[in-house]
Amino acid sequence: MRADLNVPLDGDRIADDGRIRASLPTLATLISRGARVIVCSHLGRPGGRPDLKYSLAPVAARLGGLLGQEVDFPGDIVGPQARSAIAALRPGGLVMLENLRFDEAETSKDDMVRGYFADRLAAPVDLYVADGFGAMHRKHASVYDVPLRCVSAAGYLVQAEVAALRQLTADIQRPYVVVLGGAKVADKFDAFGSLISKADRILVGGAMAFPFLAARGLKTGTSLLEAGQVDAAARYLELAAPGPIELPSDLAVATEIAADAPRRVVAADAIPADQMGLDIGPESAARFAAAIGTAGTIFWNGPMGVFELAPYAAGTRAVAQAMTDSDAFTVVGGGDTGAAIRALGFAGDAFGHVSTGGGASLEFIQGKTLPGLAALET
Ligand code: 3PG
Ligand code: MG
Repeated sequence: MRADLNVPLDGDRIADDGRIRASLPTLATLISRGARVIVCSHLGRPGGRPDLKYSLAPVAARLGGLLGQEVDFPGDIVGPQARSAIAALRPGGLVMLENLRFDEAETSKDDMVRGYFADRLAAPVDLYVADGFGAMHRKHASVYDVPLRCVSAAGYLVQAEVAALRQLTADIQRPYVVVLGGAKVADKFDAFGSLISKADRILVGGAMAFPFLAARGLKTGTSLLEAGQVDAAARYLELAAPGPIELPSDLAVATEIAADAPRRVVAADAIPADQMGLDIGPESAARFAAAIGTAGTIFWNGPMGVFELAPYAAGTRAVAQAMTDSDAFTVVGGGDTGAAIRALGFAGDAFGHVSTGGGASLEFIQGKTLPGLAALET
């Protein structure tokens, strides 16, 4: 089973185990039916070589705790230890492989390189179960190439994700409000091209806002900003004009990402040169909440600020609160966004759907074909 157990870590402590819990229904079923289960996942972006910071060992331990059974963790992927752990599996037993991205072949752009790795992953496998929805937008060996080599099926998580997210691809109840934030700006930037024509309003917060503020000619201080994105942001603003794209008008700023650094609220056109935006400001939060309140459908991907630090959680909390207050069909997408709502004390069932995929849900609602889903259909 390919799961997405890419959970947020705080050192070697699991900060949020939502993605592990989301994998339990399929795993429990496989176990109860006497399958010999090999679970695999990536964790973070270790860059194609082993880096113990990104070991899945703590995840294996947590999974064992949640399932109430031992999870064998041999510590390699397709090496001799994994092979002998798999050979020793009994019906209902579970082996978790080490982080797939410890091998550069997993994410290689070369089909042959990925294919060779996929051959080795698939060698002991009778049935492949795709349940790692959060990684299905990646054309990676474990996501795309292994299912091409095996009898394969979608797990319960993937089935539930597809059923819920499909509601955002046709007959959408309007107004359709999309809220975008988060720090993986490069990954999600392309989404604007298609969402501009689909959504009635696009509210932008988090680090996603800085290229747009910069494109408007504002100074963003030391905020997270990749230069190449400013031109693209300018093109999207032009394309959208007068536009569904709405930016923060005020921000909470500080000199560093630390809870005890002095926090100030400034207008978006007055970010001091030595400070960075760490949350949307109260005026923007109220405006975003009001926009959410008028929506018939809301899709939210990416926190509005550094919610992990209490002084910068208010924007994210305001968006979550407005969504739970609304009668609209509400979808929260993303590992971090799901973790954010749980960390801030919101119940998952207060939303229409909480997706475990960030980039994956965003690509799905644009109508793109996810490689992991495509591979199941061939
Ligand atoms: C995620 O957290 O979005 C998924 O696990 C995919 O991770 P990636 O963006 O590093 O491919
Ligand atoms: Mg993520």
